[in-house]
Amino acid sequence: MGSLKNREDELEQVGKEAILYVNGVRKALPDGLAHKTLLEYLRDIGLTGTKLGCGEGGCGACTVMVSHYDKNMQKCVHYAINACLAPLYSVEGMHVITVEGIGNRKHGLHPIQEALAQSHGSQCGFCTPGFIMSMYALLRSCQTPPSEEQIEESLAGNLCRCTGYRPIIDAFRVFAKTNDDLYTGISSLSLQGGQAVCPSTGKPCSCGSRGPSGIDSNKQCVPCGDKCQPIFYSEIDGSKYTEKELIFPPELLLRKSTYLNMSGFGGLKWYRPLRLQHVLDLKAEYPDAKLLVGNTEVGIEMRLKGMQYQVLISSTHVPELNVLSVKDDGLDIGAAVRLSDLLHVFRKVVLEREAHETSSLKAFIEQLKWFAGTQIKNVASVGGNICTASPISDLNPLWMAAKAKFRIIDCKGNIRTVLAENFFLGYRKVDLATGEILLSVFLPWTRPFEYMKEFKQAHRRDDDIAIVNAGMRIFLEEKCDSWVISDASIVYGGVAPLSLSAVKTKEFLVGKYWNNELLQDALKILQEDIFLKDGAPGGMVEFRKSLTLSFFFKFFLWVSHQMDGKKSIESLQLSHVSAVQTFHRPPVIGSQDYEVRKHGTAVGIPEVHLSSRLQVTGEAEYTDDTPLPPDGLHAALVLSRKPHARILSIDDSKAKASPGFAGIFLAKDVPGDNNIGPVIYDEELCYRVCHLCGPDTHENAKLAARKVHIEYEELPAILSIQDAINAKSFHPGTERCLRKGDVDLCFQSGKYDKIIEGEVQVGGQEHFYLEPQSSLVWTIDGGNEVHMISSTQLENMNCRFHLYPIYASLMVNFQIVLYPLHVYAYFCYYSYILMHSRLRSTRSMFLMFLVFPCQKWFVEPSELVVDLVGKETRSAFLAAVASVPSYLLNRPVKLTLDRDVDMMTTGQRHSFFGKYKVAFTNEGKVLALDLEIYNNAGNSLDLSLAVLERAMFHSDNVYEIPNMRIIGGVCFTNMPSNTAFRGFGGPQGMLIAENWIQRIAVELKKSPEEIREINFQGEGSVLHYGQQLQHCTLSQLWNELKLSCEFLNSQEEVTQFNGKNRWRKRGIAMVPTKFGISFTTKLMNQAGALVHVYTDGTVLVTHGGVEMGQGLHTKVAQIAASAFNIPLCSVFISETSTDKVPNSSPTAASASSDMYGAAVLDACEQIKARMEPIASQNSFSSFAELAAACYEARIDLSAHGFYITPEIGFEWRTGKGIPFRYFTYGAAFAEVEIDTLTGDFHTRTANIFLDLGYSLNPAIDVGQIEGAFIQGLGWVALEELKWGDAAHKWIPPGCLYTCGPGSYKIPSLNDVPFRFNVSLLKCLPIIGNKKRILNSHMQKHIILGSSVAHYMTGHPNVKAIHSSKAVGEPPFFLASAVFFAIKDAVIAARAEVGCSDWFPLDNPATPERIRIACLDEFTAPFTSYDFRPKLSV
Ligand SMILES: Cc1cc2nc3c(=O)[nH]c(=O)nc-3n(C[C@H](O)[C@H](O)[C@H](O)COP(=O)(O)OP(=O)(O)OC[C@H]3O[C@@H](n4cnc5c(N)ncnc54)[C@H](O)[C@@H]3O)c2cc1C
Ligand code: FES
Ligand code: FES
Repeated sequence: MGSLKNREDELEQVGKEAILYVNGVRKALPDGLAHKTLLEYLRDIGLTGTKLGCGEGGCGACTVMVSHYDKNMQKCVHYAINACLAPLYSVEGMHVITVEGIGNRKHGLHPIQEALAQSHGSQCGFCTPGFIMSMYALLRSCQTPPSEEQIEESLAGNLCRCTGYRPIIDAFRVFAKTNDDLYTGISSLSLQGGQAVCPSTGKPCSCGSRGPSGIDSNKQCVPCGDKCQPIFYSEIDGSKYTEKELIFPPELLLRKSTYLNMSGFGGLKWYRPLRLQHVLDLKAEYPDAKLLVGNTEVGIEMRLKGMQYQVLISSTHVPELNVLSVKDDGLDIGAAVRLSDLLHVFRKVVLEREAHETSSLKAFIEQLKWFAGTQIKNVASVGGNICTASPISDLNPLWMAAKAKFRIIDCKGNIRTVLAENFFLGYRKVDLATGEILLSVFLPWTRPFEYMKEFKQAHRRDDDIAIVNAGMRIFLEEKCDSWVISDASIVYGGVAPLSLSAVKTKEFLVGKYWNNELLQDALKILQEDIFLKDGAPGGMVEFRKSLTLSFFFKFFLWVSHQMDGKKSIESLQLSHVSAVQTFHRPPVIGSQDYEVRKHGTAVGIPEVHLSSRLQVTGEAEYTDDTPLPPDGLHAALVLSRKPHARILSIDDSKAKASPGFAGIFLAKDVPGDNNIGPVIYDEELCYRVCHLCGPDTHENAKLAARKVHIEYEELPAILSIQDAINAKSFHPGTERCLRKGDVDLCFQSGKYDKIIEGEVQVGGQEHFYLEPQSSLVWTIDGGNEVHMISSTQLENMNCRFHLYPIYASLMVNFQIVLYPLHVYAYFCYYSYILMHSRLRSTRSMFLMFLVFPCQKWFVEPSELVVDLVGKETRSAFLAAVASVPSYLLNRPVKLTLDRDVDMMTTGQRHSFFGKYKVAFTNEGKVLALDLEIYNNAGNSLDLSLAVLERAMFHSDNVYEIPNMRIIGGVCFTNMPSNTAFRGFGGPQGMLIAENWIQRIAVELKKSPEEIREINFQGEGSVLHYGQQLQHCTLSQLWNELKLSCEFLNSQEEVTQFNGKNRWRKRGIAMVPTKFGISFTTKLMNQAGALVHVYTDGTVLVTHGGVEMGQGLHTKVAQIAASAFNIPLCSVFISETSTDKVPNSSPTAASASSDMYGAAVLDACEQIKARMEPIASQNSFSSFAELAAACYEARIDLSAHGFYITPEIGFEWRTGKGIPFRYFTYGAAFAEVEIDTLTGDFHTRTANIFLDLGYSLNPAIDVGQIEGAFIQGLGWVALEELKWGDAAHKWIPPGCLYTCGPGSYKIPSLNDVPFRFNVSLLKCLPIIGNKKRILNSHMQKHIILGSSVAHYMTGHPNVKAIHSSKAVGEPPFFLASAVFFAIKDAVIAARAEVGCSDWFPLDNPATPERIRIACLDEFTAPFTSYDFRPKLSV
């Protein structure tokens, strides 16, 4: 173990060992682990419920709760942290609780776990433990029940890619104080201050679990008992949840903190002194030592940026650095004070002090609200933020503006004071000499008429670093009946290498009168003061410059507003008040409106996802959770730094000298064919990467990989669609054409009123599955069998098309064994799937698939349960990479990609480019469309052609176009190969269509909705590829939606709002969709299943589909249960495996429930038919009796079911056919509000209507809709990929800048529409027995809504199982309603400056694009009228 340094005043600590409690169990912490994070440690000891999603504090998948006893406060404090950034020794002496510690299926689920499972709050389940732990920490730390706002705030650091957050919010809402019903007989209003929330029930109680001093103890933690009835129990032994809450370990209550002196890999030293003097001594001894508090900066530097520090000094336990004291003239804040504590104290002080004294505190409070997630704020320190000196630090501009003073101490104890304004010297350079550290910060009170305000604009409001931020302060004094500025400070972040004071502006302001004239002059000076070069790092130069002016303008208005009513101060015009209003987010309110149309015992019922209980307890295992066998190796990739180059030399000598080096593998080492690919073998396995195996840890493998030095000869690179078009760089044989009518004739005829021509750029999208790609490969039998736990959604194809070429020439009798097992996936659909499986086998350890050669695939049963995770085509590439060293070294090899490598190498949703020419009438009727579309495939074909084809099929969206020609091409670029993503090109095709529809509306000065309506397709419409629409429910959906959102009223309200508000604008839009269901490759539309009935009446089902979190297994089980008229619990879905159901197609194209459901039903019907003679002769009291009787009568109770999608087929040669079995229709309404000065936006309302026929499981379907919509919202409004290309010259060519959650922003909980309503189209008029599932908050709304929305007659879908419809992909595009609502709002903003022309707005409509499009006097100095922000396409 680590030695405890024997310092004179710490003698009492000598001999104490370093310890930690994990889930109530004491652990001695050995020495030598200073390089480890808490997450690595937890996973090493088998607690794999805590996940690694990003390793940079950006996703929350690694959230755990930490508790320690705070001597000063004399109580236990509990808080959530990111285990991925916490150094292991930083939690020494603390209690760490992981998801495994709060509940499990054996001993009972915690109420939080139960609530999330019951509310359909998990799909793939990878994010789930993190959400649960954030919520758990909130409840444990709350003295009173949290408010809904607090709950939502506490989840800001947790990302989910599947659910759309609404069900998570609803699940946790039951713990909020607003829901008084849950507080049996106690209104939250009547709660006494300090009354705690019972951690066992989430209800307020006085069970004393925290006691008056907040100390947990054995005795005090007796659960509520009678007072709050426990509602959760173990499904295994029926015991109740109570008495299972973990208490704070008594040993830790009594234990004194220890001085730690530990070591780690590579000679790393890690100290935790307890006194300031010891810190200074250490600094004297090791002048280069890094001080450490939250490690949120140092951790990123060491792990992601490859920086090496040899000595780390954790200053968390040094009292002198943790002071937070209120003085007469201000606040003294220790450098190690955590930001959440700072926030807490500031809030308290604001309530206690005179209002005028706390203007700067209020600015800090507001800024901290949008500073990182809760987990980061819980550990990150004031001093860490200051000393990092990041140019986009959110707090440094505020310290500077507030005239804060920094106290600095050197090794000898000398203290000097520096004004914050003078502390920052350059890029990450501060005024600290060697041996000096920051001791504390002094923040003075503000004076009467001294005002300070914060500003920040980021890509995403929650948990994002700033693009530009600012702190501004002004001190006004009354002189001669006027107000004169006697002091000012204007400081910006994000505009220079350091936080920058606008000195000239300040000098100009001082002594001037506060009036409008001053504003205009100051704005001019500010333009000179803040200078950003074109091509400055970070890009967005025009946007950043205009933000500097916008912020100052806002500040001016805000101060004037504060001074309103004072002599000589002009009152703020009412319409300008919108510029100074602070964004306040109300709690999300969602409604889910559907009818429950039961069919038999289970179909149609909103059953909970069958795997949810495994997921909420962290018991669901994924690939990276599988322990690496003892002789296993970790692999890392060596990536090319150039997009197109010839390798001249590779120097791997340093890598080879790395500890435990096992091998480096280059193209020449691949034993078989180096070319792979899912459709054609056009991708070199070792082309852009070579790979390298390290011995013990993933981190060491990465370190070694970084040491490989490669010399290149650079070649010209094609990095965009435009480059490819110019160079005629297309993948061979990918040109496609679809025609209807005669476009040329129409254009020549002149029988139209107008023609428009334009171009649409459609941005790509990163899948951002929460679980990164991972593969584990090992060989047995001397290398004759290769076993693989790998990510794959289509296990058959994966083996055949990817692995076969590699191994084909490898040897004879070679076998590859895959473990697809049960698969969960977040719904990024085609390509990225999280697999989790449970397979039982009897002979050897694993159940396996033999995939080489195909006809020899077989399964060997084993006794172990194996769990794993997987993805689709790009994952096969990685599986192949891991296979090579595993085979050659005959050792297990694990390859888990870090988030950045995953994002850089595995491809994304295709960006598209469209060129259109449209002829139309003055009414808006479209007559002809001539369209060229191109997608950016990257350097291999992968699935790009099929993606392009689907985009072409969907290029009409829902519009009747008599003459149409679409030409498509797949562009070859020197970028990673792009791949399939939810919608598979359909959304891109539809977005291009909606762009020209919207343009027609502008040209004709009509609303886009009007243009949409008059061009709608309908029953019998013949599409541009010859298919005729049947059972088209488009107009019903549209009308229902229109009624539900009261479109005309909404339009009127928006117009009124916009008229009254100059700087905030609202916009609305209604967008329809039609999504074709079926694989467009005919042979893939087949499915198999195997059903066994047992004599006890239970049923075992296996089918070829993959459970990806989308609820496929649940729906299939419901179908089997209804078929036999038995309860759902009598059906068990055995995991997908090729030995049981061969030749399965990918689980994709939204069609899996249709296909596998039908195959299962076929098998059930066969068995039922065989049972029928027995059943009809006797009456049986149960299905079990019937099954037993059939068995006695020697009836075969097992059947193989099969389904082929009928009546489909398409010929590209003729461009005609029936590619789709049917269409899923939908429509959505969105209302947004934008801040025209900053580009900030939020979605106020989203109403979604979808026709899903008779839903098999409406709750699961609603989950798919919400998840798809929020993912789509990311695509249209948030998620921007920035590649090093002509548009982004500040990024090295071909490199991805946005390669992690820090820079690539998927929607967070904060982006969920305030009102988020989902309705499924009712299938028939319902009288009397309609059942509506409502969120209690929405009842009024729904009742109102339903009174106008009568029940429309949709169609039961005659073309799919039990009249249902496919749901996975269709709702994704509906999020474009948000995009067009944003555009509507921007139109209103432009109208203010007299601009009514059409303008292009690319997706994603980020704050940059919104702001730049809202033309005004603050953009004018920097942009031309037609300026279009750059986009990588
Ligand atoms: C996910 C994520 C989100 C973030 N969001 C934001 C954000 O919204 N806004 C923002 O501004 N920042 C953000 N950050 C940056 C970072 O969290 C903050 O800068 C944080 O305050 C750093 O504090 P720390 O205690 O973790 O620093 P550490 O990593 O522990 O230390 C940082 C640096 O400060 C030095 N240091 C610490 N204390 C002292 C001292 N007393 N004297 C001298 N040097 C010292 C260390 O040696 C080190 O160089 C984010 C970071 C992450 C990972
Ligand atoms: S893994 Fe820790 S925050 Fe993502
Ligand atoms: S359920 Fe949240 S990421 Fe899958």
